[in-house]
Amino acid sequence: MGQEIERKFLVKGDFEQAVTCKKRIMQGYICAEEARTVRVRIQGDECFLNIKSASNERGWSRYEFEHRITPSDAEELLKLCLPGMIDKVRHWIQVGNHTWEVDVFQGDNQGLVMAEIELSSEEETFELPAWAGEEVTGDPRYYNAMLSQKPFCRDAPHCRDAMHCVSTGLIMKHIRIDYYTGTGGSELVARLLADKLKSENRTVEIIRICRDRITGAQSIEADYYVLIFPVHSFNAPQPINEWVEHLTGKDCKTAVISVSGGGNVLSNTACRCKTVRLLKKNRFNVVYEEMVRMPNNWIKAPKEKECTRILSKLPTKIDAIAQTVITEKRSKKIIYWIDYLISALGEAEKKGTRPFGSGIKVSDTCTGCGFCAKNCCSSNIQIARQVQAKPTFGNRCDMCLGCVYNCPQKALQPTYGAFQIDKNGYDLHGMCQKTVLLQAYNNNITYKK
Ligand SMILES: Cc1cc2nc3c(=O)[nH]c(=O)nc-3n(C[C@H](O)[C@H](O)[C@H](O)COP(=O)(O)O)c2cc1C
Ligand code: SF4
Ligand code: SF4
Repeated sequence: MGQEIERKFLVKGDFEQAVTCKKRIMQGYICAEEARTVRVRIQGDECFLNIKSASNERGWSRYEFEHRITPSDAEELLKLCLPGMIDKVRHWIQVGNHTWEVDVFQGDNQGLVMAEIELSSEEETFELPAWAGEEVTGDPRYYNAMLSQKPFCRDAPHCRDAMHCVSTGLIMKHIRIDYYTGTGGSELVARLLADKLKSENRTVEIIRICRDRITGAQSIEADYYVLIFPVHSFNAPQPINEWVEHLTGKDCKTAVISVSGGGNVLSNTACRCKTVRLLKKNRFNVVYEEMVRMPNNWIKAPKEKECTRILSKLPTKIDAIAQTVITEKRSKKIIYWIDYLISALGEAEKKGTRPFGSGIKVSDTCTGCGFCAKNCCSSNIQIARQVQAKPTFGNRCDMCLGCVYNCPQKALQPTYGAFQIDKNGYDLHGMCQKTVLLQAYNNNITYKK
């Protein structure tokens, strides 16, 4: 049996620039004890069975046996694994004479980034890169076997286990859904789709698009990417395009789903064009475009009966979208030339959203609850920390209408462009409550960042 000598560190800084290669790794444990582990690993298209002894006193070295196995053997062995999978992307980085491996964990351990270096002896010296933080060598909490049983992120919305891996033919497809929402419609579409895909044994990561989350270039580590947004003036809202500009798709298959009050009617059909162009520029392989109709929140919401009718159709529509995503089928919509023109004109309207936001007035009924500030994905609302402080509005509004409609006290009223608000309000929670098929999902609409 060989001996593994390694040191482990948490990662505190930007390491991505130096990466030479990366691969997705998924692994399950037949035995995950401190004294011994038996691991089944899938790394790209290679599979391994690995047995390790307990670490020595310093926690730096242990005996290790590793054997390459066939995918069909891995499939059988995964059936024996304990619940709890490790899902991570491993990055290889050369620093001096050594190769570092940086693991960016996903799923239940999302948020954990750990680096390790293999040494030929415990005495061997090495250069510590600037991004390496606290040393965790020998800390049992950071053993992968332990992380599979007691994950770093206990609140992870999805649970993965070895059986998922088996039933999807070893390659467990990972789908990332990014969505933007103002009044909850696109969020509902995103969450219903995520639930459906999870029920089909896909792992799903779901992210709400917010301006303050655009921090720098980011590459998509998923097998399939889904972008969901509401149609604003025959286009995607401005934050979508800014979001996409910071992403690299690495040829990832991609679906672009627009959500609108009018559906696939004239003047709406070109709403995804600009976004798709940007995605293609950043190496996304857009194979699927779709429109979902939701109750309209702009100017005039439909009557209750019509809202119920639209929402009742949603589960069937989501099933169809999920099937297209799972089968990775190509599907595009016809775009009318006149819509290109209207869509281009609609882009000009985006400038008008700024005065709308800065002119929102707060009435005396405001309790200072902070709900509006927390949920404004354009970071346009500030609220002081003192008790019952009232919100103030800046100059970055994207006119999602979320704050105006969702304030529990109905304390917000726009000064400019007030005609765009339905004076009877817009309450997606209430509408879903009246639609039997969606009642279970009602609590899923969080409006929260
Ligand atoms: C500023 C603004 C502009 C809109 N423009 C359109 C439009 O051009 N075509 C359309 O069908 N719906 C339009 N809508 C309606 C929304 O697309 C629709 O209600 C959607 O479901 C809202 O999604 P959300 O609840 O996720 O914010 C607009 C809504 C807003 C707030
Ligand atoms: S305006 Fe409404 S949501 Fe915002 S702090 Fe006041 S009561 Fe809360
Ligand atoms: S200020 Fe209100 S309408 Fe404007 S982006 Fe923020 S939540 Fe939406």
